[in-house]
Amino acid sequence: MINVSILGYGTIGSGVFQIIRENGQIIAERTGEEITVKSILDLRDFPGDIAEDIIVHDFAEIDSDDSVQIVVETMGGLHPAYEFVKASLEKGRSVCTSNKALVAAFGPELLKIAEDKKCNFLFEASVGGGIPVIRPLRSSLAPDVIEQISGILNGTTNYILTEMTEKGSDFDTVLKDAQAKGYAEKDPTADIEGHDACRKIAILTSLAYGHQLDFEDIYTEGITNITDRDINYAKKLGAKIKIFGSSKKEGEKVSAMVAPKLITVSHPLYSVDGVFNAILIKGNMAGDVMFYGQGAGKLATASAVVSDIMEASKHQGINIKTIWDNQKLGLVPFEESISKFFVRLKGTKADNEAKVSEVFGNVTPVDAGYSDEYAFITEAITEAKYTGASEKLGNVINKIRIDV
Ligand code: HSE
Repeated sequence: MINVSILGYGTIGSGVFQIIRENGQIIAERTGEEITVKSILDLRDFPGDIAEDIIVHDFAEIDSDDSVQIVVETMGGLHPAYEFVKASLEKGRSVCTSNKALVAAFGPELLKIAEDKKCNFLFEASVGGGIPVIRPLRSSLAPDVIEQISGILNGTTNYILTEMTEKGSDFDTVLKDAQAKGYAEKDPTADIEGHDACRKIAILTSLAYGHQLDFEDIYTEGITNITDRDINYAKKLGAKIKIFGSSKKEGEKVSAMVAPKLITVSHPLYSVDGVFNAILIKGNMAGDVMFYGQGAGKLATASAVVSDIMEASKHQGINIKTIWDNQKLGLVPFEESISKFFVRLKGTKADNEAKVSEVFGNVTPVDAGYSDEYAFITEAITEAKYTGASEKLGNVINKIRIDV
């Protein structure tokens, strides 16, 4: 029998408890061990809850319980999650977490402790919720050099952009509706500003190349500037606007960014709508591999955590080698990244045409029927060239990148 302690009885932690209870038999058959939740750490009491009797309020009770073999961290936040996870690993207990902030910030250090102590630090649920992507990246795609990762990594923003596209509503209206339906947090900043997707692409990219990509170093642009006019232009182009976390191998370095992009129907992620997430990974041998599913939600995310518990149970005393060290991953300077840019300017075509061709060279105009602005798509240019040219123009309303 394997004894598990869960740190945090919120949405994911209670989902883990529920799955272990409801699917206990098949989990035991497939693991070869019965898995029991011994204790749950939470500051709150849960009178009448099925877990009422195993709730504890002090981490020391779990830390000093020698029967605990696996610790599940579903508290979120950096502290005290980091201290509790580190203490557990140092005792040789495997830790399974859904906490992307913790993994993005401390992944290499915690993996190293797990290696030294012959246990495991597993985090399938930290990216893509219920979508299996960490284990496939670490294991199934291990023979490949990863050339590119592109992900719709955030359900809230994908839902908002989908609703704006399908209903023609503006950003603020859709955000309020998403909050009312529980698809967006009361404070939606981490989602709509791209911070959540940024941590997820940092984790995937670090794992793909084995070195640390600090999320602070990734250019991150959210969706708050996207308007109904942008959506209409996209429709005119037969395209959709999606926010991507992406990274690409460029020689010995990697480029990475989080930003809204225009994609057309031929893009494999074009039809990923609503709260769904999808990740496209290009291996140099396997080619394109795509992962699709629920990137959030209680049971989907908890299912990924339980899969880690099962993996840890099958590897008691054995560290599953995961290469992700503290050395910084070489990042291509953002100014050198190349995209095409869809650009909207204030003023008419006549006002802008000559100056645009002077600063951008060849462009392709896009007409969505707005007489008070001029829109076009540039050729493939660097971020530096885009910034210089747009500063010379001085009347940019918005720009959206197109991958090349
Ligand atoms: N807020 C996140 C999302 C939850 O919308 O995808 C999972 O990280």
